[in-house]
Amino acid sequence: MRQPRNALFALATTASAASLSDVCTVSHVKNILPSDGTLLGINMLPSAVTASVYNASSSSSSSSSGGMGMGGSSSSYNYCNVTVSYTHPGKDDTVVIKYAFPSPSDFKNRFYVAGGGGYSLNSDATGGLEYGAVSGATDAGYDAFNNDYDSVVLQGNGSVNWDATHMFGYQALGEMTLIGKELSKGFYGLASDDKVYTYYEGCSDGGREGMSQVQRWGEEYDGVITGAPAFRYAQQQVLHIFSSVVEHTLDYYPPPCELAKIVNATIAACDPLDGRTDGVVSRTDLCKLNFNLTSIIGTPYSCAAQTSTSLGFGFSKRNDHKHKRQAAGSETSYQPAQNGTVSAQGVAVAQAIYNGLHTTQGERAYLSWQIASELSDASSTYNSTTGKWELDITSMGGEYVRKFVQLLDLDNLDTLDGVTYDTVVGWMDTAMVRYYDTLQTTHPDLTAFKQSGGKLLHYHGESDPSVPAASSVHYWQSVRAIMYPDESDADMSDFYQFYLIPGAAHCGTNTLQPGPYPQNNMETMIEWVENGTKPSRLNATVSSGDYAGETQMLCQWPTRPLWQNGSDTFSCVRDEKSVQSWTYDFPAFKIPVF
Ligand SMILES: *[C@@H]1O[C@H](CO)[C@@H](O)[C@H](O)[C@H]1NC(C)=O
Ligand SMILES: *[C@@H]1O[C@H](CO)[C@@H](O)[C@H](O)[C@H]1NC(C)=O
Ligand SMILES: *[C@@H]1O[C@H](CO)[C@@H](O)[C@H](O)[C@H]1NC(C)=O
Ligand SMILES: *[C@@H]1O[C@H](CO)[C@@H](O)[C@H](O)[C@H]1NC(C)=O
Ligand SMILES: *[C@@H]1O[C@H](CO)[C@@H](O)[C@H](O)[C@H]1NC(C)=O
Ligand SMILES: *[C@@H]1O[C@H](CO)[C@@H](O)[C@H](O)[C@H]1NC(C)=O
Ligand SMILES: *[C@@H]1O[C@H](CO)[C@@H](O)[C@H](O)[C@H]1NC(C)=O
Ligand SMILES: *[C@@H]1O[C@H](CO)[C@@H](O)[C@H](O)[C@H]1NC(C)=O
Ligand SMILES: *[C@@H]1O[C@H](CO)[C@@H](O)[C@H](O)[C@H]1NC(C)=O
Ligand SMILES: *[C@@H]1O[C@H](CO)[C@@H](O)[C@H](O)[C@H]1NC(C)=O
Repeated sequence: MRQPRNALFALATTASAASLSDVCTVSHVKNILPSDGTLLGINMLPSAVTASVYNASSSSSSSSSGGMGMGGSSSSYNYCNVTVSYTHPGKDDTVVIKYAFPSPSDFKNRFYVAGGGGYSLNSDATGGLEYGAVSGATDAGYDAFNNDYDSVVLQGNGSVNWDATHMFGYQALGEMTLIGKELSKGFYGLASDDKVYTYYEGCSDGGREGMSQVQRWGEEYDGVITGAPAFRYAQQQVLHIFSSVVEHTLDYYPPPCELAKIVNATIAACDPLDGRTDGVVSRTDLCKLNFNLTSIIGTPYSCAAQTSTSLGFGFSKRNDHKHKRQAAGSETSYQPAQNGTVSAQGVAVAQAIYNGLHTTQGERAYLSWQIASELSDASSTYNSTTGKWELDITSMGGEYVRKFVQLLDLDNLDTLDGVTYDTVVGWMDTAMVRYYDTLQTTHPDLTAFKQSGGKLLHYHGESDPSVPAASSVHYWQSVRAIMYPDESDADMSDFYQFYLIPGAAHCGTNTLQPGPYPQNNMETMIEWVENGTKPSRLNATVSSGDYAGETQMLCQWPTRPLWQNGSDTFSCVRDEKSVQSWTYDFPAFKIPVF
C-alpha cells in the first residue's frame, strides 16, 4: 500500500485537498529536498530555498511552448514560485533553479522542460502550467539568466570554460529534471514510485538540448519534442561561414535582390512538382532532382531602396536587452534600389551553397540547405563609397570560429583572406573533436530512452535557411543504422518519429512559402505517452495564403507527400530516388559523422 510520504499530505484527506498556499512554503520545500547522496553528485543548499505564491492577474504569463518561434499560450495561472540551489560536491559551485508548481488541484502528475535558443537556455519556468505540469529553468552555474553561454565559454584567450560547456551542453537540464521530479513527488505528496510523466519541448538550440536529454538522460523522459535541432554542433555552427566563403572564393558578392530573385524563381518553378500549385515546395527533393538553377539566368529583378535594421535571423541572438551581445549581431544597413538580371555568377554562388561544403579535392564535408530555402547567410553589404556589394561575414559563424575554434575572445572574423574550403573543413574537424562529448549532440544510440518507454517526436522545416533540414534526416538515418541495422524503419517509429514540414523556415512558418505548421505537438505527445495513441501523421495548419485554415496531416519520414492531381488531398509515398537525394556521407572526415 502506498502512503503519502510527508506529514502535510498525511493530514489532508486527499492530496488535492491541499491548497496552493498550504504547500507553497519555504519549510515545506526544505522538507522535501533530496538529502545528500540521494542524487549522486548533487548536494542541495537548504538555506537558499525561496517559495511564494505567484498570483497571476491578467494574461501576463508567456509560455515558452515549443521554444523559439512559437507563440505559446496567453492564459494565466497561480503557481508556487520556488527557487532552490545546489552544489556539485567538491566544486564549491552554486547552481540556481527556479521551478513553477501548479496548484495541487491543477497538477496532472507531469513535469515539463522547455528548451532555449541560440546560446540561451530557457529562462522561463512557467511553460508547463498549461499542461498541469511542474516546470523549471536553470542558471546552469554561470548565471544563465543573465549571461548567454557564448559570453562565458572562454575564461581567457585559449582557455575553455569546461564547466559552463558541460552545463550548457546537457548537464544543467538533466540535473534540473532529476531534482524537479523528486521535488514534484514531495511537493504533492506522491509516493516515491509514483509516475511523473516527463516532457521536453524545444526548437533550434532547444531542439539540440532536447536531443542531449534523449541521448544522456533517456530514462528520465517520457516524451520529447525536438524541432530543427542545432546539433552536429561543430559542422552546424561553422556552416554559417560557408556562404561567405563561397562568395569570397568565387569573388562575387550578389546584390541581395539577385539572390532573393533566385530563391523566388526556384520556388515558383518547383512549387507544382509536388502535384499542387500552392506557393509551397513540398518536395524539395523533386526540385533538386528536376530543376536546373541555370534556367534562371537572365531573369530580371528589381527591389526598391531600403534602410533596415537586422537582428540576424534564425539561430541568433535573442536577448535584445543585452546591448553588448546585440552589437555583434545587429546592423543598420542601407540598400539602394537594385535593378538587373540574374547573372551566371549569381547562380553559381547559389548552386555552390546548395551543393554544400567539399574539400578542394572534391570530398564532401557537409550537407546544405535544401534548394528553395532562403540564402540568408549569403547576404552582402553595400559600400556607398565604392557603390559595390561586399563581403558580410555572418557573426554567428564568425564568432563561433573565433571563440570555439581559435579560442580568441573576439566577436567575428574580420577577413576571409587565405581561407579556403579546406580551412573551413579544418575548423569543423577541430571543433568536432574538441566538443565531441559536450556540444556535438549526435550520439546515435538511444537504447536507454527507448527501453524505458520514451517517445521522440522530431520535426524540421523543409526550407529552413539556418539549420539544414537534411541535418535532421542524417541523424534519423544514423539512429536507424545503429539501432536497426536491418533497416526496418517501421519498428523505429514505435519510439522515434520524424516529420519534415513543407515550406517551413527555421522553427516557424516561411514568409516566402505559405505552408503548414504544427500547432498542437504537446497534445499529440501526451496522447502517445499517457494513452498509448501512437501518431502516424503530424497535425499541421496552414496559417496564411490561399489555403489558410487548411489542416494537413503531414507525412512521416521517409514517406513524402504527393498531391493528387486536381484535388486538395495528398498521399504519403515512398520514393527511393527522393530519399537518396537526402542521403549523405562525409568522406572529408576520417571518423564517422553521425
Ligand atoms: C494570492 O492570493 C491568495 C488567495 O486569494 C492570498 O491569500 C494571497 O495573499 C495572495 N498573495 C499575494 C502575494 O498576493
Ligand atoms: C520568484 O522568486 C524569486 C526569488 O524570490 C524572485 O526573484 C522572482 O522574482 C520570483 N518570480 C516571480 C514571477 O514572482
Ligand atoms: C585575446 O586575443 C585577441 C586576439 O589576439 C586580443 O585582441 C585580445 O586583446 C585578447 N584578450 C585578452 C584579454 O588578452
Ligand atoms: C520574393 O517574393 C517575396 C514574397 O513573395 C516578395 O516579397 C519579394 O519582393 C520577392 N523578391 C524579389 C526580388 O522578387
Ligand atoms: C544545368 O544546365 C547547365 C546549362 O545547360 C548545364 O551545364 C548543367 O550541367 C546542368 N546541371 C545539371 C545538374 O544538370
Ligand atoms: C529601378 O527600379 C525601380 C523600381 O523598383 C525604378 O523606379 C527605377 O527607375 C529603376 N532604375 C533603373 C536605373 O532602371
Ligand atoms: C568601402 O570601400 C572603401 C574603398 O575600398 C573602403 O576604404 C571602406 O572601408 C569601405 N567601407 C566599408 C564600410 O567597408
Ligand atoms: C489539429 O490541430 C488543430 C489546431 O490545434 C486542432 O484544432 C485540430 O483538432 C487538430 N486535428 C487533429 C486531427 O488532431
Ligand atoms: C485513448 O485511446 C483510446 C483508444 O485506445 C481512445 O478511444 C480514447 O479516445 C483516447 N483518449 C483520449 C483522451 O483521447
Ligand atoms: C492533371 O490533370 C490535368 C487536367 O485535369 C491534366 O491535363 C494533366 O495531365 C494531369 N497531370 C497529371 C500528372 O496527371
